[in-house]
Amino acid sequence: MSDLRLGPLLRFVDETSATLWVETERAALVTVRAGDATGQARTFAVHGHHYALVEVTGLAPGTRTAYVVELDGTQVWPPADSPYPAPVIGTLEAGRPLRMLFGSCRVSVSHDRAGNEQHGVDALRAYALHLAGDTSAGVADDEWPDLVLFLGDQVYADDTSEEMKAFIDQRRDPEQAPWHELKDYEEYAHLYRLAWGEPANRWLLSTLPSAMIFDDHDIRDDWNTSADWRAQMEATDWWHDRVVGGLASYWVHQHLGNLSPAERAEDALWQRIRSHDGADELDVTAEVDALADRADREPDSYRWSFCRDFDTQARLVVVDSRAARVLTPDRRCMLDDAEMAWLDERMRGDVDHLLVGTSLPFLLAPALHHAEAFGEALAQGRLGRLLKPFGEWARQAADLEHWAAFQDGFQKVGRMVVEVAAGERGRPPGTVTFLSGDVHHSYVALAEPDPASGRTAHSSIVQAVCSPIRNPLPRVMQLATALAAYGAARPTGRLLGGRVPRSPLRWRLPRGPWYDNNLAVLELRDQALHLAWSRGVDHGEAERPVLEEVAAVDVPLRR
Ligand SMILES: [Fe+2]
Repeated sequence: MSDLRLGPLLRFVDETSATLWVETERAALVTVRAGDATGQARTFAVHGHHYALVEVTGLAPGTRTAYVVELDGTQVWPPADSPYPAPVIGTLEAGRPLRMLFGSCRVSVSHDRAGNEQHGVDALRAYALHLAGDTSAGVADDEWPDLVLFLGDQVYADDTSEEMKAFIDQRRDPEQAPWHELKDYEEYAHLYRLAWGEPANRWLLSTLPSAMIFDDHDIRDDWNTSADWRAQMEATDWWHDRVVGGLASYWVHQHLGNLSPAERAEDALWQRIRSHDGADELDVTAEVDALADRADREPDSYRWSFCRDFDTQARLVVVDSRAARVLTPDRRCMLDDAEMAWLDERMRGDVDHLLVGTSLPFLLAPALHHAEAFGEALAQGRLGRLLKPFGEWARQAADLEHWAAFQDGFQKVGRMVVEVAAGERGRPPGTVTFLSGDVHHSYVALAEPDPASGRTAHSSIVQAVCSPIRNPLPRVMQLATALAAYGAARPTGRLLGGRVPRSPLRWRLPRGPWYDNNLAVLELRDQALHLAWSRGVDHGEAERPVLEEVAAVDVPLRR
């Protein structure tokens, strides 16, 4: 297996096509064979690494086909000695109920007793073993997920593991900035190997299609919290390399595979890679770095958000809630104008479920929501100039950085949700469901329009959070978030004399929070949106955890 450095990752899959991503040790022609269907691509180079995205077309809908990967005609995947079932490409089928896993926040540390004692059991790996049939009978055909959606903090560039630190130690002085945090593309390439290279997870990622969006730790804790935060970073001599390395490696490892072949074909840099003919390998290091640098300086120069439709069952809109922010103090917004317009166009009914993936929960536990809205008002001087510095300090110290702390965007998107649910943007869906992570606790919130709006929701409005996959919250923070979950979030405008705008939604948490490392599944059933969260339990064999359900909620449809 030495020629295949990382992957294959099965990425975008629809009824008849699949995209597979690989990193190889050398320049090569990569071939994927799945039954009668074959796809081929030459590797392209970035910072001395070799990658290929192979598009396989002509697959039959609703089938699961075993596949192999070849480099220059030699089979490199699956490994001859693999203990796992043959990896497959499972295509979608119109009308078959969608089943999607989701979760966020996963550190990459060892899976032995020591690793589990420090960080708990990796819920993704427990799911992988479950799917492989290692610890149970495996899953029945109708339980096989269509995809897994990773909602951020796929890698931790700031809080590094012992293995990552060892890699840093052998290439530079960790006493110098950025110390044991990631410095550049090369270190990111290694971090992705640690995240995706462990055999059980690697098998899972080779056999379940995936979609993913970054959150702060993929770049750095609190990424783009405020203009002050950005100014602090930009004043350092290491931030520029970090953000360019982070976004460049994100484009290669995470972003490209989110797109359908048709969408990818519209990406200018991908066009250049795709249209390169000739036996030599195209090196796009300079172009990928330039794209990353520009995307950081001019967020509207590149879109990381993506959207896909699952026939008329569901639309999945995955929003970049980190890189496209407006941080100018008097017009802060979670999304800039172009991104907000893009989202606005996609917030429509005429599907059975409108699913919105955002790394940061749109609806937080009520007390946290109020604290963040209040914190933003404080930091912007709306409660007096003297309190302003305290507001900025609290914003960074207490992670007051979710949608609630960007009231302008919260209000706009909240109004879109109410309009969709009221049937003003096409036939109302059964649910409008936000899927999120980041907060290291999991819960379900159910919302209604503000009664003052005079509107009735014909859709259930849901927030489902699954966090962490592996990175539990310290106990003291667990207690604080448990307390914050009580009560209903009421419009706060009156309370603060109008200095925090009135919320278009009211909500409560009928379930949660809970704090397990877990992975969730969403299933679109006839009469309900089924949500269930599972964790891995170590029954004595640390490396062979057993999957157990921790919570399940059925949200009835209103149609
Ligand atoms: Fe996060």
